[in-house]
Amino acid sequence: MRQLPGARAGGGVSLARLAVALCCAALTLALAPRAAQADLAADRAALLAFRDAVGPRLPWDASAASPCGWRGVGCDRAGARVVALQLPGASLAGAVPLGTLGNLTALRTLSLRLNALSGGIPADIGGCAELRYLYLHGNRLEGAIPEGFFGLSLLQRLDLSNNQISGGVSPEFNKLARLATLYLGNNRLNGTLPADLELKNLQLFNVSGNLNLTGPVPASLVSRPASAFSDTGLCGGPLSPCPTPPQPPPPSPSSPSPPPPAPSNGSESGKLSTGAIAGIATGAAVAFLVLIGVIFFLCFRCQRTKADRSAGMAADADVDGSPISVTVVSMDKSATKRSSHAPAGNAKKLVFLGAAPDTPYDLESLLHSSAEVIGKGWLGTTYRATLEGGAATVAVKRLRSAPIPEREFRDRVTALGALRHENLVPLRAYFYSREEKLLVYDFVGAGSLCSLLHGSRDGASPARLDFTSRARIALAAARGVVFVHGAGARSCHGNIKSSNVLVTDARDGAYVTDHGLVQLVGAHVPLKRSTGYRAPEVSDPHRASQEADVYSFGVLLLELLTGKPPVNSVPGSSDGVDLPRWVRTVVQEEWTAEVFDASIAVEERVEEEMMRLLQLATECAEDRADRRPPMVEVAARIEHIVDSALRKADTDDDFHSISP
Ligand SMILES: *[C@@H]1O[C@H](CO)[C@@H](O)[C@H](O)[C@H]1NC(C)=O
Ligand SMILES: *[C@@H]1O[C@H](CO)[C@@H](O)[C@H](O)[C@H]1NC(C)=O
Ligand SMILES: *[C@@H]1O[C@H](CO)[C@@H](O)[C@H](O)[C@H]1NC(C)=O
Ligand SMILES: *[C@@H]1O[C@H](CO)[C@@H](O)[C@H](O)[C@H]1NC(C)=O
Ligand SMILES: *[C@@H]1O[C@H](CO)[C@@H](O)[C@H](O)[C@H]1NC(C)=O
Repeated sequence: MRQLPGARAGGGVSLARLAVALCCAALTLALAPRAAQADLAADRAALLAFRDAVGPRLPWDASAASPCGWRGVGCDRAGARVVALQLPGASLAGAVPLGTLGNLTALRTLSLRLNALSGGIPADIGGCAELRYLYLHGNRLEGAIPEGFFGLSLLQRLDLSNNQISGGVSPEFNKLARLATLYLGNNRLNGTLPADLELKNLQLFNVSGNLNLTGPVPASLVSRPASAFSDTGLCGGPLSPCPTPPQPPPPSPSSPSPPPPAPSNGSESGKLSTGAIAGIATGAAVAFLVLIGVIFFLCFRCQRTKADRSAGMAADADVDGSPISVTVVSMDKSATKRSSHAPAGNAKKLVFLGAAPDTPYDLESLLHSSAEVIGKGWLGTTYRATLEGGAATVAVKRLRSAPIPEREFRDRVTALGALRHENLVPLRAYFYSREEKLLVYDFVGAGSLCSLLHGSRDGASPARLDFTSRARIALAAARGVVFVHGAGARSCHGNIKSSNVLVTDARDGAYVTDHGLVQLVGAHVPLKRSTGYRAPEVSDPHRASQEADVYSFGVLLLELLTGKPPVNSVPGSSDGVDLPRWVRTVVQEEWTAEVFDASIAVEERVEEEMMRLLQLATECAEDRADRRPPMVEVAARIEHIVDSALRKADTDDDFHSISP
């Protein structure tokens, strides 16, 4: 509709396409009130004046009464005002005159990055009082940041880097209290950074490459990485200390000299506390393991004495008291043929599902292995256990105590063990007693997608994952889920979330884990508060459905694209977003690439693929179950997206190098 050939690097084009897809006819119907029409006419006049000055070749149809259909122009849903102007890499050149951009008073998003705009930032920019996202990087803008600029109090993302902006960094930046991104790098700013600069919401900051910036790094920024200040004359904070007293203060008896900054003191105490925390954490983990060991020991003791005292009581007790048999399930013969043999002793044994491992281990060696907690959730705790002699490393899931009868447990676990697929973590063995239920999985030596995206509780920061890696992880996970769904019409995962997706070390593939566990013990475990992955129609989580899986998978895709955790999904954190709703809102109202995680939003080459994955994710996360695509289709569409992204990575870097 508003497609422009040769603008593949542009943000506006595919965004517009997506918006068209999602908001359907809302734009084309200009059923605007009369007063708004006047405003729209003013917006239109301002845009035309803008085009005359800097973009004579913009293919805007000046005969159209409404500018809403013009390339790079976005309107609100009623089509009453222009709220977005996105013309990245559109060969705009020259100075932006007054009375153009500044007259677009409803503008929320302005992206003119990677053009050849020169002159100053228009002094009337303050007229765009609704502006949230302002991207002017990669131009030739010069002169100081105008005074009126600091009236843009709603600004959240500001990128002015790679221009020739000069003058000082005004203390008035503090007025932009919502600022989350402040990129001023590679300009010609001089003077000092305001000592009291304090932006509470700041996430991303960079002033590198401003050679003439001098003086100390402000207190609020000292914890930023040194690269944010590289190639400047700044000192202190993460940089080398400032030359002690800048000038020995002239003796003035009235004002006591302020205490000298002691950065080493601060960082030392920081290290100490980190060390202390690590120590405490290790201690706690060890204590916890010891405790588990004791519990195990007591459980076996009590179970044995109970069995000795014998006499069947309840049905459950009967099962426990009956002669114990090890059940070895073999995978051939549809996983139901069992060969039982009773070993000496009453102790229950580990039961292998499918072929026993080359070097078989038993419960004893499992309990004596060195173990470490790797995950903790509603359904149980997962340990990594390295067997004695390093024979094998397995993941042991200790299920929350649930009064599930042995027969039911055995049948369900056996069915789960029969599911073997390269994208599913194989379930190898189980242990059942009344008090303890263990599941033994292969240990896949990689972190969960959750900790890769959001960092882990032990302080590891989020990993850098480019779009293609994210899409490949999504594909691998989708294939695992497709396989589970293929096992029968009622077969489903039941608990798809990023902490149940384990990513390979190369970060190009993934395994799905914990499939079927909610159905296994969920019915017997009190309900946890619901998370953002749960489909709206699901009231009873252990009655999962394939459609509900698709919803959860859609939320997982949104999480991959936005980098934001869904509601109640990160343990111990109250963060989280109702992702489906948030994405719909942003896409409809803001018209921006803001939905994407900052670290993939810059990948202009694969923008189209990102949009396609976003579209798929929103389809999966439809409120109505019958509108969601089946998992097979989801996997097939992701496969196309991955193919196309990989092909672009192969062919060229041309798109990338569209620059002024
Ligand atoms: C911008 O607004 C001013 C004041 O309302 C008006 O005088 C001017 O003509 C407008 N500019 C354009 C290009 O419409
Ligand atoms: C830094 O300041 C010097 C002297 O004022 C000036 O000549 C030079 O062009 C400035 N450099 C930059 C990158 O602004
Ligand atoms: C910064 O540069 C401007 C010229 O661009 C100059 O007028 C001003 O004095 C400089 N300020 C400092 C503190 O060097
Ligand atoms: C700041 O920008 C420079 C140059 O673009 C880059 O090398 C550096 O990694 C950035 N640092 C941060 C913390 O963003
Ligand atoms: C430095 O450490 C001392 C004690 O170790 C403490 O009393 C003081 O407050 C610390 N100063 C700063 C600036 O952290």
